Amino acid sequence: MRVVLGIETSCDETAAAVVNEDYHVISSVIESSLDQHRAFGGVVPELAGRAHVTHIGSVVQRALDEAGLDPHNPAIEGIAVTSGPGLIGSLLVGLSAAKAYALAWDVPFVGVNHLEGHLFAPLLEQSDLEWPLLTLLVSGGHSLIVLQQGPGQHEVLGETIDDAAGEAYDKIARWLGLGYPGGPEIDRLAQKGTAGALKLPVSMTGVDFDLSFSGLKTAVVRATEKHSDVALEDVAASFQAAVAEQLLRKLRGAMEKFEVKGVALAGGVAANSLLRSGVKGLADEFGVVSHLPSIAMCTDNAAMIGAAGLYRLSVGGASAMDLSATPNWQLADVR
Ligand code: KG4
Ligand code: ZN
Repeated sequence: MRVVLGIETSCDETAAAVVNEDYHVISSVIESSLDQHRAFGGVVPELAGRAHVTHIGSVVQRALDEAGLDPHNPAIEGIAVTSGPGLIGSLLVGLSAAKAYALAWDVPFVGVNHLEGHLFAPLLEQSDLEWPLLTLLVSGGHSLIVLQQGPGQHEVLGETIDDAAGEAYDKIARWLGLGYPGGPEIDRLAQKGTAGALKLPVSMTGVDFDLSFSGLKTAVVRATEKHSDVALEDVAASFQAAVAEQLLRKLRGAMEKFEVKGVALAGGVAANSLLRSGVKGLADEFGVVSHLPSIAMCTDNAAMIGAAGLYRLSVGGASAMDLSATPNWQLADVR
């Protein structure tokens, strides 16, 4: 059976995976440099790039080894590598490695859009997805609502006009003196708090499916300055409820406008407990299937890049050896 090697180094995870043509994950290895960034409250690009250089070789070898392939000359169909969006120095490490392996093993390689990779994640756990599908893709760097007619056929209905949802979580966590990344910690606290404790606006951008989190962030800062006696758990719950409310309202609008068979969550914020139950509830209400990938598949990994690469290799063929990294590559520009 055809298998591809996926490589992901767009942010702080050095990841490699082997995926087969049925979108089954054969192996998936992730080495994160997160611990090096915590003290700085965010990913430090130079540290991330250096960590990728340190780990890329061993991570690829482990992924091949765990898939039962010869690490020196694996029987693979090709290599898929994230070529954008992401941190330029980090992307270049993965891209250079992919080119070197492609030359050494005489196999094609293809540059994959990281966001398209996230869209393929639900397929890795549920190969019988029914289309069309609406996907809420929310991560530390991006927040989009996407209509998919099939694998690789996506239309961006709306996206954030300022901060990404995960970015808002991380910034609020920092403001509250919590660690980085802020999402998991706020989510944990929120489950012990009362959402109505802090009155917060639900940002609406006016434009149908666009999103905005910057106003909410400012509102949390103002409200906590004014009401410093509100418990941390209650602040977390109020903020979390406002984020979920906006995302779910927009998703509901999209479901009312477009007839779809399913609704999916993708990206790191898809790990959020309130969002997961909200999307499940929405899907039930509309009588469609909900696709909530496991946390491991929501967050950055190379299996999703391998999956997107399988598709890209089959429709567009290989990338040229002079392919460069595209740090600001928009999903809407992926053809
Ligand atoms: O997709 P991802 O792993 O990396 C990017 O491509 O950005 O997403 C990481 C983001 C971080 O901002 C983190 O705070 C957020 O996902 N996150 C969460 C949760 N777990 C991770 N946000 C809300 N609730 C969570 N449970
Ligand atoms: Zn991501």
